[in-house]
Amino acid sequence: MHPDIAEILIPADELQARIQQLADEISLAYAGKQPLLLAVLKGSIVFLADLMRALSVPHAIDFMATSSYGSATESSGVVRILKDLDEPIEGRDVLIVEDIIDSGNTLDYLRTLLLARNPASLRIVTLLSKPSRRQLDVPVDWVGFEIPDRFVIGYGLDYDEHYRNLPYIGILKEELYS
Ligand code: IMP
Ligand code: MG
Repeated sequence: MHPDIAEILIPADELQARIQQLADEISLAYAGKQPLLLAVLKGSIVFLADLMRALSVPHAIDFMATSSYGSATESSGVVRILKDLDEPIEGRDVLIVEDIIDSGNTLDYLRTLLLARNPASLRIVTLLSKPSRRQLDVPVDWVGFEIPDRFVIGYGLDYDEHYRNLPYIGILKEELYS
């Protein structure tokens, strides 16, 4: 275990097993279609890479980048678009792939923005959710794991750009950010 980690919350094998279940459900939901997986940079890339390889439906991928955090562990509530999609999504079946939903600010903002572009459908899969932190009620179609209100890192999630490469979801030692 990495020395900055207080506790492993979700080990690598549990992540992989749950992602295969999600992929099976998502493949069924999009049978006969070719969804566009829209990953929210940067935290979602590890989840996207595993999810897409577990899907049995053909699909395309694209990326958006948003920001609501600096190096702090609390959301600022203000969402900015740092990178937009490469292609129009009108008439496409879009699946937003998120690493974690916390306050809900990011996904609420993205949903409104993307719905205005008239996709055929818009659904959301998030690997993690912190339900106790929700400020905005965003309709999420698939949730990998509900987790307690702790700051987590690993499997794509960072603290100040560190720890994204850890293969598990861990809880950062509090003395490292308080
Ligand atoms: P929201 O807008 O408050 O829902 O926050 C969503 C974004 O905040 C996520 O996409 C993450 O980038 C970041 N975030 C929220 N909680 C955590 C955490 O525990 N660890 C790392 N990043 C987090
Ligand atoms: Mg994110």
